[in-house]
Amino acid sequence: MDEAELAARLHTRWLGRAFEWHASCGSTNDLAAERARAGAPAGLVIVADAQTSGRGRLGRSWHSPADENLYLSIVLRPARPPSEIPPLTLLAGAGVARALTTFGLTPRLKWPNDVELVEPVGATNRRRKVCGVLTEMASAGGSALHVVVGIGINANAVDFPPEIAERATSLRRALGHAVDRVELLAALLEAFEPLCEAFDRRGPAAAVEAFEAHAAFPTPCRVTAPGRPSERLEGIALGVEPDGALRLQDETGQIHRVISGELS
Ligand code: BTN
Repeated sequence: MDEAELAARLHTRWLGRAFEWHASCGSTNDLAAERARAGAPAGLVIVADAQTSGRGRLGRSWHSPADENLYLSIVLRPARPPSEIPPLTLLAGAGVARALTTFGLTPRLKWPNDVELVEPVGATNRRRKVCGVLTEMASAGGSALHVVVGIGINANAVDFPPEIAERATSLRRALGHAVDRVELLAALLEAFEPLCEAFDRRGPAAAVEAFEAHAAFPTPCRVTAPGRPSERLEGIALGVEPDGALRLQDETGQIHRVISGELS
């Protein structure tokens, strides 16, 4: 993958027009944050063929073997206050879902940051994770200076490490053939650009609306607090609040707003 190959396929106006490809790096999110601090424009996209310290949410690592999957980070400079930035994770998930739809798939979004595909396992269907989003922000004096949206898509992986093998899948497994990573990247950036523009204009409402078009909530569901698995809430997910929080009704009928956590 190189700049010329992507430029020849890409029809965006600003997203991905500044582009860096690396054979390997620690984490594309770290590299993108470094570029953003040095003044990189909104729309810079950094892709690596492999990451040696790929990061996931909640301090986890992200499985990033060489040449199989898509690991990218996008620098954004949304004209919105820091409190409105977290729903960008929902927006990025919606961008991925729209892109995967162009490959003939029916992705489902699991709040807040997972893109899943339904996979037959024996006689049943299981939802398995094909993509994760990690959004990181730098702010000062009440303004978001920059945001890095990191996206990892399991494109062509066939095998996964034992600790995630039950929960992970790839586009290749779902489609039965390998996907061209440049085509996937171009489809993603083309889907995400208009969503980013809507977010600049309308803020979190645009993210929630785009997310809900592909969302599927487990029923009943359980939310555990980050790092505190004993603290959990169980009930029925009713949807997403205008600010991106999950709305959950417990068995007593009480409604909770969940700002962060792990949904299962
Ligand atoms: C998650 O589901 O926990 C989020 C995973 C995000 C992984 C991507 S891969 C590209 C970018 N660089 C990273 O180190 N993480 C994100």
